Amino acid sequence: MSAPTSTRALRMAYVVACVAGVLFFVTSVGLLGVWPTQMLRDQTTRMAPEVPLRPSVSESRGRLVYAREGCSYCHSQQVRFTAADTRRFGAPTLAWETQFDTPHMLGTRRIGPDLSRAGGTRSLDWQYAHLYAPRDVVRESVMPAYPWLFDGAPDRPTQEARDLVAYLDSLGRAREVAGPEGEARAREGCDCDDDPLMAMAFEGRLNNHPARAIRHGEAPALPIDAAALPRGQALFARHCATCHGPEGQGNGPAASHLRPAPKNLSQHDYSNARLASALWNGVTGAAMPAWRDLSPDDLGALAQAVQALSVTRVEPAPSEALLAQGREVYAANCAQCHGTDGRGDGTAADALPMVPANFTQQQLSLSEAVRVLREGIPGSPMAPWTSRLTSAEILATAHYVRSLYTPSLPGHLRK
Ligand code: HEC
Ligand code: HEC
Ligand code: HEC
Repeated sequence: MSAPTSTRALRMAYVVACVAGVLFFVTSVGLLGVWPTQMLRDQTTRMAPEVPLRPSVSESRGRLVYAREGCSYCHSQQVRFTAADTRRFGAPTLAWETQFDTPHMLGTRRIGPDLSRAGGTRSLDWQYAHLYAPRDVVRESVMPAYPWLFDGAPDRPTQEARDLVAYLDSLGRAREVAGPEGEARAREGCDCDDDPLMAMAFEGRLNNHPARAIRHGEAPALPIDAAALPRGQALFARHCATCHGPEGQGNGPAASHLRPAPKNLSQHDYSNARLASALWNGVTGAAMPAWRDLSPDDLGALAQAVQALSVTRVEPAPSEALLAQGREVYAANCAQCHGTDGRGDGTAADALPMVPANFTQQQLSLSEAVRVLREGIPGSPMAPWTSRLTSAEILATAHYVRSLYTPSLPGHLRK
């Protein structure tokens, strides 16, 4: 009589296993699929600004180019909730920031840097030169070149390249545009003041990219140690020569397509304070990145290497009459931008896309100053003056701005 009992038990086991299997399946779909989606959706609704910024048509097309070219094989788009990530890139990515990113480009590998805060980090000319030939800009880059996005040169981008760079420039922007009100709403919706991990999303700067130029940033004093010169020269060859050229003449492989062009460092003398600021803060409105990922020791060594590139001569002192003429031309034509004392803080300065040169902290060679006055600096607000000033006036003004150089002044850019 035992056979039918065991058959029944066996039949029951099938049913039990089947029911348990279905239950297990449903539970896992719920727990791993439905619930997190619902949580994310709730979180997005609670934390997003009321009217979040949507991508433009060009940016959406750029996103497709990004996907097609496989940029996300090497670039992630998520600042993680770790100290290392926030130090380098800025605030961790919130779910709502990627709400229009379907299918998403979060990426899983970082062969190149994370791009979720790429917007506003690099200048347009830098982006084009870099996409066209990365190693012309960053000597040791392993990023592939994308010349097919251009008509033969970095300053002739196709519509696809324009869209792609518009897309790159939009990354991280929605949250920046949302501003303090957006952050406050997100924080309230997050309701996570007692959750130290989530709280990280609201600490520190939104964009902490070490290369992002800062217009009026503070800079640390750089240690100046003569023995560091060879190290500085090696760093210059590695990081700077692609743009400024091996001898600093402004003729590196990337230079011909950058506007404004890299400075001819051999024709400039810079104070320590000016170099500290240029290296720590970069130059806004130009391809010159900031170098905050290098240590102050390295930046001090680089500053010496830059100073050692100068081949400017000591010019015979100009006569008082010449200087007086220069002062007059300067007061009438230059002071509104470059400031009455030549500190780059004239009344019009704040409205310009670039900070005017501070003549107390840098001195051009006489020939370079005359050249700049004749030709202007294409890509910057500094116009050519040949139609408005005579040759004699140009020479006098060049002498005058040179006479303002006082490298021992403390390194303020503005009063
Ligand atoms: C094989 C991997 C690889 C691929 C594919 C790749 N990159 Fe890169 N990318 C890198 C590396 C490595 C760097 C860092 C060195 C440099 O700046 O060139 C970088 C740097 C960058 C930077 C500068 C980022 C910063 O914060 O300094 C941008 C912007 C960029 N890539 C965009 C793109 C775009 C757009 C694509 C697709 C068209 C792309 N990359 C494809 C590896 C890659
Ligand atoms: C991607 C190209 C690029 C790279 C790389 C680069 N620079 Fe520049 N740099 C520029 C451009 C462009 C300017 C001109 C900015 C302007 O018109 O004011 C400039 C300007 C400067 C200036 C003058 C700043 C001022 O106050 O007028 C200094 C000094 C300088 N660079 C040093 C360096 C050093 C040192 C490095 C390497 C650590 C470096 N640059 C790397 C493009 C570059
Ligand atoms: C509309 C504002 C404006 C006016 C007016 C102006 N400048 Fe400039 N100037 C600038 C800006 C901005 C720069 C920085 C450009 C750059 O770094 O690429 C600059 C740069 C320069 C430089 C080059 C510095 C360098 O390191 O290469 C010299 C020299 C100069 N100006 C002299 C003058 C003189 C002299 C006058 C008057 C005749 C004058 N500027 C009038 C805005 C102006």
